[in-house]
Amino acid sequence: MKILNGKEFADKIKDEVKADVEVLTSDGKSVYLAVIQVGDDAASSTYVRNKHNACVRCGITSSTYNLANDESEENLIEMIQTLNKNNYVHGILVQLPLPNHIDEHKVIQSIAPEKDVDGFHEINVGKLMVGEDTFIPCTAKGIIELLKYNDVEIEGKHCVVVGRSNIVGKPVAMELLHHNATVTMCHSKTKELEKICKEADILVCAIGKPKFFNRDYIKEGAVVVDVGIHRTENGLCGDVDFDDVKDIVSAITPVPGGVGQMTIAMLMKNCVQAAQMQLK
Ligand code: GUN
Repeated sequence: MKILNGKEFADKIKDEVKADVEVLTSDGKSVYLAVIQVGDDAASSTYVRNKHNACVRCGITSSTYNLANDESEENLIEMIQTLNKNNYVHGILVQLPLPNHIDEHKVIQSIAPEKDVDGFHEINVGKLMVGEDTFIPCTAKGIIELLKYNDVEIEGKHCVVVGRSNIVGKPVAMELLHHNATVTMCHSKTKELEKICKEADILVCAIGKPKFFNRDYIKEGAVVVDVGIHRTENGLCGDVDFDDVKDIVSAITPVPGGVGQMTIAMLMKNCVQAAQMQLK
């Protein structure tokens, strides 16, 4: 069984991004990411802090704007519009989820597509769908890169994606399709989930339930990508029951140290890509 080590590869990518940033800074330019967090959800705060630390490591300037939990949608959108117009800012990221009184879709659509380093804006989602060059959502991009780096063949493989979120499930399914996989998407209403998962050569688990996937869901020799991250009394775990499946899979991403690391590395890549395009 091979561990698909996201940390090691993510570190390598961050070094490459740092070198790309240095090319720009040596020319008197800079790369700037603005991160907006509304409220003080503990998990979001951790993600935002990790993103900031990655920016520091890569030489990307980043500011985090912390807004109160009851901040109005209007003020948030106004802030985004100001950042859209600021030529010094290359990337804008609004940490999700947002409080219930704010329309997430409306907020995402207010981000200038060329600064949408998450790849969540309709324009960028549409480009991904038709296979145009665009910002690919970071987790989806990270999963594909990690599989390729570890020589996991995607073409012709049956990939089963469990979870249909706009952030992970849908973009990763689309990316796998672009890499010539046969893709099955499963979700909360899917019947016979266990049976379908057991047919997967590559199983992407993004269901958001700790240790949900045990060996009953996995074909012998399958490659398992665990997108989940859950804080439990016994530390962090993923959507997959790692200990139960480890001796039947051919490869698996660990939690922590797998997909999560890749997501942040891809965000750094998207930021430098945004800056390169805007500074052209
Ligand atoms: N919340 C969970 N994942 C993400 C992500 O990739 N981007 C943003 N903006 N919010 C998230």
